[in-house]
Amino acid sequence: MLIDTYGRVATDLRVSLTDRCNLRCTYCMPEEGLQWLAKPDLLTDDEIVRLIGIAVTDLGVTEVRFTGGEPLLRPGLVGIVERCAALEPRPTMSLTTNGIGLQRTAEALKTAGLDRVNISLDTLRPDVFKTLTRRDRHQDVLKGLAAARAAGLTPVKVNAVLMPGFNDDEAPDLLAWAMEHDYELRFIEQMPLDAQHGWKRDGMITAGDILASLRTRFTLTPEGDDERGSAPAERWVVDGGPHRVGVIASVTRPFCRACDRTRLTADGQVRTCLFAREETDLRAALRSDAPDEEVAAIWKQAMWGKKAGSGLDDPAFLQPQRPMSAIGG
Ligand code: GTP
Ligand code: 5AD
Ligand code: SF4
Repeated sequence: MLIDTYGRVATDLRVSLTDRCNLRCTYCMPEEGLQWLAKPDLLTDDEIVRLIGIAVTDLGVTEVRFTGGEPLLRPGLVGIVERCAALEPRPTMSLTTNGIGLQRTAEALKTAGLDRVNISLDTLRPDVFKTLTRRDRHQDVLKGLAAARAAGLTPVKVNAVLMPGFNDDEAPDLLAWAMEHDYELRFIEQMPLDAQHGWKRDGMITAGDILASLRTRFTLTPEGDDERGSAPAERWVVDGGPHRVGVIASVTRPFCRACDRTRLTADGQVRTCLFAREETDLRAALRSDAPDEEVAAIWKQAMWGKKAGSGLDDPAFLQPQRPMSAIGG
């Protein structure tokens, strides 16, 4: 079991498969991209499957989320999913992606055993998409979304970050569109995890702003804590149901007390939290032929040191050394 000193048990493993991305979202990374991890530093497919196997078999992990960067850029993705689906006990598997290329792989991923996907889409306007992501790929994302639903990778969740002056007027339109297509929309507060360190609390769109904007067109009723569990998204029933909308308010309404997550970076480092400043090296253990029990013991020790919260409200808060695209979103 991966337990920490506050009694939280991590059953949800987020695995970053690559730090690379084919978009350049302004709130994430600069136009020129970043210094990507070198190939020999990345875990191999075998190493990833072995670590997920240890997590599932020896450490009580029941849910695995593949993230990036952009996880669809990992050539071995379908094979990794297939091998993880054969683990005992079989974990629930999901993917967080920008959706580009999903049109081609959704069926294969479903057949391999992937359960569902979360897809990022911040705007319905192709020109705003191009400004926000610096790439003209809006249509590809819409096709990826439709392919995911058609392949049964459901519920399909859509993640949207609102940026002042770009798409902050779009919340009601996004919700109307998501309900029409049966996607579950969640808005995410912008977090200080960008490579450029450009985040400012003053400038960000808060959960309060988003809810006020949605309420100009919809009636929202809180879903209640019983249904939330450890999910980062707080949810509201829209216009009496059946649709819901979520807000992931990591900054203004943090959910650290219920956190059930452990993370693995693409280069094999355990992180206890998105905002942690420490990492624990599992890759070195794997590559020195440590047995499973030893790798599991290192992982447990790392999680035992998990901090109470993100530290965002601490005046001395420092962004983690690595940006979100390298940590895993
Ligand atoms: P599901 O609702 O189960 O699909 O999961 P999710 O909402 O955690 O998944 P997703 O990968 O779509 O993440 C949505 C947003 O939540 C992203 O911006 C993540 O960075 C953020 N997020 C994920 N895990 C954490 C976490 O441990 N802490 C914080 N603060 N934010 C997180
Ligand atoms: N703050 C909030 N969300 C972010 N994402 C990427 N960077 C940030 C950030 N700094 C979002 C992406 C994607 C999800 C994994 O995280 O848009 O939807
Ligand atoms: Fe790529 Fe996601 Fe970062 Fe956008 S937020 S540049 S899609 S890793």
